Amino acid sequence: MPERSLRVGELCEYPLRPFDRLDCAAAAHARRELRVRRRFPQPHRLPVHEDVEHILFTEAQIGAGIDRVAREVTAAYRGTGFTVVSVLKGSCVFASDLIRRIPIPLELAFVSASSYGSGVESGALEVNFFPAESEIRGRDLLLVDDILDTGRTLARLVDEMNRRGARSVRTCVFLDKPARRATSFVADFRVFEVEDLFVVGYGLDFAGHYRNLPYVGALKRECYERPRSSAGR
Ligand code: IMP
Ligand code: MG
Repeated sequence: MPERSLRVGELCEYPLRPFDRLDCAAAAHARRELRVRRRFPQPHRLPVHEDVEHILFTEAQIGAGIDRVAREVTAAYRGTGFTVVSVLKGSCVFASDLIRRIPIPLELAFVSASSYGSGVESGALEVNFFPAESEIRGRDLLLVDDILDTGRTLARLVDEMNRRGARSVRTCVFLDKPARRATSFVADFRVFEVEDLFVVGYGLDFAGHYRNLPYVGALKRECYERPRSSAGR
């Protein structure tokens, strides 16, 4: 979990305090952050969106987390071709960053699932489209989703892919919110665990908005207290 959060209006790439004015643990964190930032320079500096309460993961932290998971995925599939199946719409940002860090042969396919609920609660799940049969049958699939919440979406998609003849199906999620689980579903790979907050950014939306934020932030409660319909998860 993040060791501190940013205030509204503060730049995403916040300045680090000098190490000598920090206690030991904070200085170690600041050094780590500086190393990550050098590896992932941020070309744009955007103010934090006014609807975001605080930032949970910065661009630099996201880059480092995906690096780690890309190494795990690479090790798991080395020597076997596989297909990354991105669950639209939420995982498109994560999937595109993930595949560019995997240096072994892979194919890319998409599945689209919508959960028609109101506000922040999941509603009835509808699968809008599947990859072609030839992209599923006999293939090793890695289903990639933005967030594992109740687990209903991925549990249903894994079942469907197996039913349609996939050779193996594994799952990789950007965020895992175990406090909300309503099934026994466990992802094979995950980048970060998050507490029970409604989060947006880096592909994650509320009512279709905020997917383009480059960081992950907790949405202010007043933004989702009034029920609105949401679609295209
Ligand atoms: P599940 O079927 O309940 O696991 O829900 C998965 C879908 O719900 C994800 O693909 C997201 O689109 C959506 N979702 C769950 N929690 C959040 C959140 O905190 N922010 C944005 N979308 C969420
Ligand atoms: Mg969504």
